[in-house]
Amino acid sequence: MTQHRPVIAGNWKMHHGPAATRAFLEDFTPEPGASAPRILLFPPMVSLAAATSFDARDRRIEFGVQNTHEAEEGAFTGEISARMAAEVGAELALVGHSERRHVFGESDERVAAKTRAALAAGLIPVVCVGETLEERQRGELETVLLRQLDAVLPELRSATDALVAYEPVWAIGTGETATPADAAQAHALIRRHMAAVLGPERAEQVPILYGGSVRPSNARELLSADDVDGLLIGGASLDPRSFAEIVELAS
Ligand code: PGA
Repeated sequence: MTQHRPVIAGNWKMHHGPAATRAFLEDFTPEPGASAPRILLFPPMVSLAAATSFDARDRRIEFGVQNTHEAEEGAFTGEISARMAAEVGAELALVGHSERRHVFGESDERVAAKTRAALAAGLIPVVCVGETLEERQRGELETVLLRQLDAVLPELRSATDALVAYEPVWAIGTGETATPADAAQAHALIRRHMAAVLGPERAEQVPILYGGSVRPSNARELLSADDVDGLLIGGASLDPRSFAEIVELAS
């Protein structure tokens, strides 16, 4: 079990426009216990302003952007910068999500550049790492995680707040969940490597989230695994009741 305040994060991907976002927030009424988790939500960019203005009074949730371009501005049709996301209320930025890496071809270098840009704009990066099924079957779990971390950890050296998410690609949106033992093994590798690169004290401060087919039915056992400090949830974060249930389980 984590020594950190647990973190429950929802990644909506390409779901919920502004109206659906307001409806979600109206219905999202978790009743967390004494140790309320930190709640993060990553709506689509067009819904960010609706989300941050809806929540402005209560400030229950920290909102983030799912993707930004690494440049500050320029001729990049269709893209947005980290600074623009911050201007509409984003406080965090997901970087290196497996869909960005595998569907949109983002390299480790690009993920590092986006992390740098997020930090420069004052956003807290949530860096995602994880192996594909083929890589896992070839016994490359450690090689892949360390390669992805090596690209990005130097950027986190001076960051005051940053998170890492372990998301095995084979478990994302597939209904296949890593066992708590699988998660604990990968999280221990990540923690050990962060300690080697950033120093043990700094490595302890960075929460490591697990993501991949998390549901209310498996959230508790995943959260109880060693070194699992929180959860990054896709599908089950779209419904306010199931997301609230996971928040309550984490308190
Ligand atoms: P999932 O997605 O919970 O739908 O598997 C997780 C993610 O991609 O962050």
